[in-house]
Amino acid sequence: MPAAPEAFDFTGQVAWISGASRGIGLCVARKLAAAGARVVGLDVRVSPELKAVAAQTLEVSVSDFAAVQEAAAALARQGLAPSVLVNNAGITRDAVVWKLGEADWDAVLDVNLKGTFNLTRAAVPLMREAGGGAVVCVGSINGLRGKFGQSNYAASKAGMIGFAKAVAREVGRFGVRINVVAPGMVETEMAAAVPAEVRARALEESLLGKLATAADIAHAVMFLASKYASHMTGQVLQVDGGQYL
Ligand SMILES: NC(=O)c1ccc[n+]([C@@H]2O[C@H](COP(=O)([O-])OP(=O)(O)OC[C@H]3O[C@@H](n4cnc5c(N)ncnc54)[C@H](O)[C@@H]3O)[C@@H](O)[C@H]2O)c1
Repeated sequence: MPAAPEAFDFTGQVAWISGASRGIGLCVARKLAAAGARVVGLDVRVSPELKAVAAQTLEVSVSDFAAVQEAAAALARQGLAPSVLVNNAGITRDAVVWKLGEADWDAVLDVNLKGTFNLTRAAVPLMREAGGGAVVCVGSINGLRGKFGQSNYAASKAGMIGFAKAVAREVGRFGVRINVVAPGMVETEMAAAVPAEVRARALEESLLGKLATAADIAHAVMFLASKYASHMTGQVLQVDGGQYL
């Protein structure tokens, strides 16, 4: 009797995960590694926790187009072309729009949206060459509903959805799927940084009376990356305890 259902067996697969040093990305890295994948973790700072589970780590900013393409080529040369890509790296720089500075707009769009483009741009030709692959983007319900103080973040995550849907149309015939997981608030360091009343409101909105753990999101990412989701592409899967219904 296998320990995990066959479709959740990632043995022999290579998974690139951005923002894998902590939070949701680290949790995805641990779970995919436990399911047999060779994990490549990309982050601006590689943590010891990531090093402990990854087959390869790279210190790179996803927002740097040239650096990402170079890293991807080097990985392919090492036999680490991806069959799974998880676009997870993300940042917030919150302010109401009339106080939002250009630098904070650019930073959020550069990491969350351009970073998603940069890595997908690098991975898709390798996936096509291999005959298929799965891309999972970590979005947010705030990209669907908007959020006070987060016009930059909401725009980046809404952009990610449009991007994924367009790419799904382009790459489906090559056996490549791309989907988005849209979490509500998740108990990570990113959420710990938001004001107490914002966390309390998220908890109130949750129909299940709790916030998500990183594992709740990682399980949905794994599902979309797995054979169980082999007929799903261009979709947005909300994992939010009903926070945005
Ligand atoms: N925590 C939440 O409540 C929540 C809710 C919805 C969506 N999300 C999304 O989930 C994803 C992960 O969030 P988290 O809570 O784990 O965040 P986190 O801040 O705990 O971790 C993010 C990781 O991304 C890395 N990173 C930041 N900029 C990078 C860059 N330019 N290049 C490479 N790596 C970079 C960071 O170093 C960090 O390791 C993000 O895309 C976030 O927007 C989080």
